[in-house]
Amino acid sequence: HPSFLPLQLCCCSSCLTGPFPQASSPARSFQLDYEENCFRKDGAPFRYISGSIHYARVPRPAWRDRLLKMYMSGLSAVQVYVPWNYHEPLPGVYDFAGDRDVEAFLDLTAELGLLVILRPGPYICAEWEMGGLPAWLLWKPDIVLRSSDPDYLAAVDSWLHVLLPKIKPRLYQHGGNIISVQVENEYGSYYACDYGYLRHLLGSFRALLGSEVLLFTTDSIQAEELRCGTLQGLYATIDFGPGSNVTEAFGAQRRVEPRGPLVNSEYYTGWLDYWGEAHASTSSASVARGLEDMLQLGANVNMYMFHGGTNFVYWSGADFKDQYKPVTTSYDYDAPLSEAGDPTKKLFAIRTVISKFQSLPVGPMPPATLKYAYGWVALRKYADLLDVLDVLCPSGPIQSQFPLTFEAIKQAHGFVLYRTQLPWDVLDPAVLGAPPHHVCDRGYVMLQKYRGTLERDGQTTLCVTGRAGETLDVLLENMGRISFGANISDFKGLLGNLSLDSSPLSNWLIYPLAIDTAVQQGWPHTAPPQSSSGARAGPAFYTGTFETPGIAWDTFVKFPGWSKGQLWINGFNLGRYWPRRGPQQTLFVPGSVLHVGRPNNITVLELEGAPSTPLLLFLDRPLFNRTLSYVPVLMLTPPIPRGSRHLFIDNAGRGGSC
Ligand SMILES: *[C@@H]1O[C@H](CO)[C@@H](O)[C@H](O)[C@H]1NC(C)=O
Ligand SMILES: *[C@@H]1O[C@H](CO)[C@@H](O)[C@H](O)[C@H]1NC(C)=O
Ligand SMILES: *[C@@H]1O[C@H](CO)[C@@H](O)[C@H](O)[C@H]1NC(C)=O
Ligand SMILES: *[C@@H]1O[C@H](CO)[C@@H](O)[C@H](O)[C@H]1NC(C)=O
Ligand SMILES: *[C@@H]1O[C@H](CO)[C@@H](O)[C@H](O)[C@H]1NC(C)=O
Repeated sequence: HPSFLPLQLCCCSSCLTGPFPQASSPARSFQLDYEENCFRKDGAPFRYISGSIHYARVPRPAWRDRLLKMYMSGLSAVQVYVPWNYHEPLPGVYDFAGDRDVEAFLDLTAELGLLVILRPGPYICAEWEMGGLPAWLLWKPDIVLRSSDPDYLAAVDSWLHVLLPKIKPRLYQHGGNIISVQVENEYGSYYACDYGYLRHLLGSFRALLGSEVLLFTTDSIQAEELRCGTLQGLYATIDFGPGSNVTEAFGAQRRVEPRGPLVNSEYYTGWLDYWGEAHASTSSASVARGLEDMLQLGANVNMYMFHGGTNFVYWSGADFKDQYKPVTTSYDYDAPLSEAGDPTKKLFAIRTVISKFQSLPVGPMPPATLKYAYGWVALRKYADLLDVLDVLCPSGPIQSQFPLTFEAIKQAHGFVLYRTQLPWDVLDPAVLGAPPHHVCDRGYVMLQKYRGTLERDGQTTLCVTGRAGETLDVLLENMGRISFGANISDFKGLLGNLSLDSSPLSNWLIYPLAIDTAVQQGWPHTAPPQSSSGARAGPAFYTGTFETPGIAWDTFVKFPGWSKGQLWINGFNLGRYWPRRGPQQTLFVPGSVLHVGRPNNITVLELEGAPSTPLLLFLDRPLFNRTLSYVPVLMLTPPIPRGSRHLFIDNAGRGGSC
């Protein structure tokens, strides 16, 4: 569509005067110009202003709306990650259907006249579960991720042989709209600093994509990271946010890339949120000012994120800084387009800056999506989780003397139940616990009744009493694998023994739970009613329905008085809610998951305890922040000595007694 073709503006001072040497370049080309310090597209100097969007965080029916808003903001390109684990759930099993149809997404970008900067990893970070790497890589426990480990490279190569042939015909040189492809992601931040690995990737990308495509890397502006993350043959770009001095930051790029275009591949418009920490925000004014400074220098900029979206299902990642820090379900990011795809003040501030450098597309910005406050919906308890194990684990449990990890039983996400019997009478309270960092990430303990929660870097022991032979159940929840840093081999489940007064418990039955399979098939709505055990605390399922008045509009659901859990509507997993910890108080419910003219089936797995009158409240706006009362245990007490293997010292420094 000719009217959608982005403007071909100059990126370098000399091109302001022209004329442009066009003759030497082939008709469709996208190249580096080391003389004039710019990109050349079809021979002409070119600068991009781009924004990041992750198709895996946006429901497919909303793709066009979000991309159109990005185009109307004046962007010439979008930057897109491909999460490997989203497409290869098991070794050699690929999924490119529905929301995972990356080619359909790329078709839309082309249709709307946007260029694409593609970031196929294989590692992407992105605050995405395990940085995009499939959890099944950890079936080999000692694998060295992001290195020349032959098992890792073999898995990477088979994936690239599936993905990159889909990409090749979409490269700019071949008539498509992909102008450049990033190799790995911030590799310099990874301890391994393995040039053999980067060289291997360069070889695979060249072999599968051809010799013409522009390949690049992205790293922070730290000298050490630029040393380990860059490689001859890959154009080095950098990332930094509005807090950085633009001149100094590009100076860092110049030290590794003395000539060529200036590129900030991740200019941070906002930031992510962690459960239990304050909601992050970045002012529109500072984002706009930094953008203008960079554009003034002739730099190419990608804004990360332009539209953040949502960590649906179990896809949110985590960080590790002194302790495990899981990322919230919302990936709003305080980005120019909100989680629900609404233009914000920040978007208009950015568009105003862009208009000073290139003309904006003609026409209005599409409006915010319609929201509806469906109001209160009553739920009722369906069953305790322990009463429906036959549905959630139809193949039955695995027997093992000692606990096995999720990876050892090939369960990637979600929940696994560990069951054993008390070996003796515990009449005086005894310490039930695991070594620090061995409950990954939360364990909900039931012994006759719900006894409390063990937490990876928090409460790692509980005091319990009971009789010999009584059943002890611990439901383990994976809160998302670490997506950045040295600890991305982030095993889940009980990683060591659970002990009672220092004696390891044995003879476990381990139930891998396929909750999503059951819920997608209509359970529990289509199942006979259970005789519910009343308002007992602990993991339990709740159900309810609501009808939409005419149109299925977007909405946000609040959990008044609920603790923590997972929400599905019509079988779609909308992610984790955790109002007790915050800051996020509502979950985004895209209208596309709702039905008109028939009941919408709500399923909630509440893990700790629902309110006595279980109600949900559907609002027309999100609540991202609240004054936080939660203080992580580690912030209250001295840190645990590293490498401590002592079984019964909990993080509060209390000894092994109750
Ligand atoms: C940015 O850094 C440069 C070089 O160090 C310095 O001259 C300039 O004053 C700095 N700008 C700001 C706004 O701090
Ligand atoms: C995380 O990685 C760092 C650096 O290799 C290491 O020192 C630390 O022990 C790791 N932490 C955990 C909990 O594995
Ligand atoms: C669990 O305890 C048993 C028995 O003491 C021991 O042999 C085993 O190594 C322990 N497992 C772990 C992972 O510590
Ligand atoms: C909702 O549950 C009813 C049974 O109560 C079932 O007939 C219907 O198919 C379910 N709808 C969806 C969309 O799952
Ligand atoms: C939460 O957001 C509101 C509206 O944006 C703001 O007025 C308030 O100060 C914020 N509260 C906290 C604790 O950040």
